[in-house]
Amino acid sequence: MFWLSMILGCLVITPLVLNVFLPYFWHDVLYFKDLMLILCKFASRRRRKPLFLVVDRFLEQALKHPDKPFIVFENKTYSYKDADRESNKIANALQWHSYLKQGATAALYMGNEPAFIFTWLALAKLGCAVALLNKNVRSRSLLHCFNCSGANVLIASSELKGAVEEIQNSLKEGGVSVFIMSRDCHTLGMHSLADKVEEASDAPIPQSARSSITFNSPAVYIYTSGTTGLPKAAVINQTRILAAMAVLASNGVTEGDVIYVNLPLYHTAGFVVGFLGSIETGSTIILRRKFSASRFWDECREYNVTVIQYIGEVLRYLCNTPKRDNDKEHKVRLAIGNGVRAEVWREFLNRFGQIKVREFYASTESNIGFVNYTGKIGAVGRVNFLHRKLFPYTLIKYDTERDEPVRDSKGLCIEVPKGETGLLVSRITDIAPFTGYARNQQHTEKKKLRDVFQKGDLYFNSGDLLMIDHDNFIYFQDRVGDTFRWKGENVATTEVSDVLTLSDFVKEANVYGVKVPGHEGRIGMAAVTIREGEQFDGTKMFSHVTRYLPLYALPRFIRIQDSVEVTATFKQMKMKLVEAGFNPALIPDPLFFLDEKEKSYIPMTREIYSSITSGHIKL
Ligand SMILES: *[C@@H]1O[C@H](CO)[C@@H](O)[C@H](O)[C@H]1NC(C)=O
Ligand SMILES: *[C@@H]1O[C@H](CO)[C@@H](O)[C@H](O)[C@H]1NC(C)=O
Ligand SMILES: *[C@@H]1O[C@H](CO)[C@@H](O)[C@H](O)[C@H]1NC(C)=O
Ligand SMILES: *[C@@H]1O[C@H](CO)[C@@H](O)[C@H](O)[C@H]1NC(C)=O
Ligand SMILES: *[C@@H]1O[C@H](CO)[C@@H](O)[C@H](O)[C@H]1NC(C)=O
Repeated sequence: MFWLSMILGCLVITPLVLNVFLPYFWHDVLYFKDLMLILCKFASRRRRKPLFLVVDRFLEQALKHPDKPFIVFENKTYSYKDADRESNKIANALQWHSYLKQGATAALYMGNEPAFIFTWLALAKLGCAVALLNKNVRSRSLLHCFNCSGANVLIASSELKGAVEEIQNSLKEGGVSVFIMSRDCHTLGMHSLADKVEEASDAPIPQSARSSITFNSPAVYIYTSGTTGLPKAAVINQTRILAAMAVLASNGVTEGDVIYVNLPLYHTAGFVVGFLGSIETGSTIILRRKFSASRFWDECREYNVTVIQYIGEVLRYLCNTPKRDNDKEHKVRLAIGNGVRAEVWREFLNRFGQIKVREFYASTESNIGFVNYTGKIGAVGRVNFLHRKLFPYTLIKYDTERDEPVRDSKGLCIEVPKGETGLLVSRITDIAPFTGYARNQQHTEKKKLRDVFQKGDLYFNSGDLLMIDHDNFIYFQDRVGDTFRWKGENVATTEVSDVLTLSDFVKEANVYGVKVPGHEGRIGMAAVTIREGEQFDGTKMFSHVTRYLPLYALPRFIRIQDSVEVTATFKQMKMKLVEAGFNPALIPDPLFFLDEKEKSYIPMTREIYSSITSGHIKL
């Protein structure tokens, strides 16, 4: 009797004790259970014959509920069946009019619209890899992105026809077939596609059309400007995309949910988390051309949206909209994304009610990710013993001035203690592989870090500085050296300085990001030296940078220096420049500001400075 009550007592007491002394114990266990369920499902799918790919999951859903709304876009609803038929037609048209065969790559150059999704599905049915070109890139960058995917077919929306024409000569030299998604196209060497799709059959594409695809075959190329130089194509292979499809499902999203997709479909957040996540769960997508803070909640109410996505700025933009009485009236229950600051997170919950925020940390090409599964404001995740066993990662000491990891006398890296900021590195293993960048061996190598804790070991260098606190919560701190984030996009400093030095009068350029009060991330700034006998011309500079760079990457401030300062190791001295910022009262050098109305760089004044810091000038 005594023992029985002891045991019963223990059963009751243990959870209580655990809750008090290890308050996150159950969160940790449940999280691990979810992780295991996902891994099991993934493993069983991988055993299926013939090979089970993402598009097969879509076909399953289309069979299960053909008439269920799949995409709602500008007052038009497309059911799963509609999407299936439309993608069959595109696939049949392409099969007939292009030389696309399974295993080939096509590039898709399109903004958010149903045709993006239908075309992607069509190409997946044909067993083709798809390069998802960023619709903001132009000329040299566009050509570069196209080239490094190895695609020989380009499919563009009609609004981007002009941008394709700019690079048409090079495309022609490379023997590329160009299709424009419009009914007619009178430019020589380009073909219309929409008319051919209308005439095409909607007969299903047989599985044999993709029978040679393996899990190692590339599925999509997503462009990132993670470290240096022009954008790089991260190769996502079939295994990876199949695993990534589970992000929404693993956060409790089911087929009853309605997902609001307003982030670009050519980025990971929109494509993998939003679009593929809906396919996996069989839910409905409310698709928008782009994010609009003012329309956001009205649309969520109108369409009964239950899941929203964000990247850093999004939640802040929503908090900055004028307060309304019905702010808390909506059905949104989950917000999933990354990059939100703790104070914005708090404000967001106060203002819009009890929405579950699932902040996660991951990048397109990295082999490690975290998710806040406990509800700790500000944290991107939590150290989970078993997760760490499966995906070994560490934070190591980093020298921000020299822009490299600190190494000890034996040449090995040093783990930072809890509470200190360090560079996140994760071991490259079979279950955590690093696929690298397409046709870019040099940059693939740069992301690999060797001799971290032992001679000969191999880690992925995330390029992100994180901190783990004494309660094991993980916080994102900053990004290292050669990139910064602005408006949710990565800006590669070397790409911008390459463009600046292509102008007639800039000799050297040192590009970095500076903080602006009231904004997430950093805005672009450049310190440049001028070629001998030349002068800085603000108007010429403006037309040069707007021609070659996407909007988010434009240097908003330019500082003219006599010489570029370098460190002892001859690396450009950035930290001092970043700290100096753009305040004309503190900077002795000539300073210019990009004025969109004047279409020129104009001299920076104290008035402009205070209008920016007070928020009167919108950046
Ligand atoms: C959708 O319909 C509403 C009302 O029927 C109309 O006001 C709105 O302009 C339509 N939107 C689009 C993008 O067609
Ligand atoms: C891309 O390839 C084409 C043809 O092969 C070539 O003419 C062009 O210079 C290349 N462009 C870039 C940016 O690599
Ligand atoms: C949203 O939900 C309400 C009530 O549940 C329903 O009456 C309405 O038709 C729904 N709207 C849409 C667009 O599904
Ligand atoms: C993440 O943290 C927030 C902040 O409290 C919380 O509301 C949310 O529920 C957490 N996410 C979870 C548990 O998935
Ligand atoms: C793609 O997936 C496989 C698993 O089938 C993985 O082991 C491999 O590293 C990946 N392939 C490439 C080229 O990265």
